[in-house]
Amino acid sequence: MPIWKPFTQEKVAPCAVKIARGHGAYLEDEAGTQYLDLISSWWVNILGHANEEIADAIASQARRLEQVIFAGFSHEPAEVLCASLEKILPKSLRRFFFSDDGSTSVEVALKLAYQYFFNQGIKDRCTYINLEGAYHGDTLGAMSAAGNRSSYHSTFKSFFFRTYSIKFPDTPDEEKNALSALQDFLENEGLNICALIVEPLIQGAAGMRMYRAEFLEKIVNEVRKYGILVIFDEVMTGFGRTGTMFAMDQTQVLPDFICLSKGLTGGFLPLGLTVSTDAIYEAFYSDDSSKAFIHGHSYTANPISCAAAVKSLEILRRESTQLDIKRIAKVHSRNLESLPRAQNKRALGTIAAFEVESAAFAQEITSRLLSQGLIIRPLGNTIYFIPPYCIDSGDLERAYSQVAARLNFA
Ligand SMILES: Cc1ncc(COP(=O)(O)O)c(C=O)c1O
Repeated sequence: MPIWKPFTQEKVAPCAVKIARGHGAYLEDEAGTQYLDLISSWWVNILGHANEEIADAIASQARRLEQVIFAGFSHEPAEVLCASLEKILPKSLRRFFFSDDGSTSVEVALKLAYQYFFNQGIKDRCTYINLEGAYHGDTLGAMSAAGNRSSYHSTFKSFFFRTYSIKFPDTPDEEKNALSALQDFLENEGLNICALIVEPLIQGAAGMRMYRAEFLEKIVNEVRKYGILVIFDEVMTGFGRTGTMFAMDQTQVLPDFICLSKGLTGGFLPLGLTVSTDAIYEAFYSDDSSKAFIHGHSYTANPISCAAAVKSLEILRRESTQLDIKRIAKVHSRNLESLPRAQNKRALGTIAAFEVESAAFAQEITSRLLSQGLIIRPLGNTIYFIPPYCIDSGDLERAYSQVAARLNFA
């Protein structure tokens, strides 16, 4: 097959499973074998596969208006989507800039942050602060923002712009040390920094690494003293994943930008959004056209993607879906503790994770579990569940038993 797969060493990769259809939390291959999708197909599919209401919304939008240039034109699905998001976002986040996916939503935030200062005559705020181990996407700016210690992107580090990485803290003592190192750095460099970018409460690709809201609050409050902007990358954590609509809802701080994608369309279509404040917007609002944000993508705010997102948000806000999110959190806490040979067991909302002794072992057992009908894709030696919210509790419990049996057996 001439298809080149993402994140794959083609030489050693097993043959890809060819999926023919999906339904709820299940995917089915061409031979009719069913697989329970415990990773929501790269964390996007929050409401299950082939959700009929979203499929209908897409079909009806496709028949009415499939695409229109978004400069100089607008359309109802985009406007309804922003109005729906305004209801669930903090009041200050009310300027919506569309893009295509998580990486581009991050690129937009990084560029807006820099140009916010540039438009005010401040041109030397070129450095960004991140949290060690961050992942913000695979485009050059998003890779740079994650810092040159990211294990994913070291090949490209000669291209990266300057960043300072806050050391990831695992204990209160490490939090103190990381904060004091940040304070020292800011004393010298604070006025050269453009923005802090973080995945709030949980770093996804780093291995579902969780950290305390109090630490996030402290670093945000610290950088604010130097006028540094704050970007929350909620591409993975948004839309109920962490048990609240957004991870930031569990903190006492607000960002200047939030990046959204993945669950935004219920996992049906690519779409990105960078939402910012009036203060940011006003720095671009001018008689001087050079102050405009000259950035856009061919499919910016595609009407079909927006229609999918509007329907997905409507379903997400229903009481039954909110109860599903709580139900999954309970299944995690009932089952996680009893897993044998699992270390550092942790859960937040619908996400559960633990470590096994090595990446090779994680790979071996998840390959075996795939042949038993479970889709789990480890991150190094981390195994995690991030299922669609419609997953049946019994199915999730059975998956835990299968994983436990496999861990015991190995
Ligand atoms: C926190 C975070 N930001 C950005 C991205 C990039 O999103 P995309 O793969 O849609 O470009 C990801 C993807 O996993 C992510 O987890």
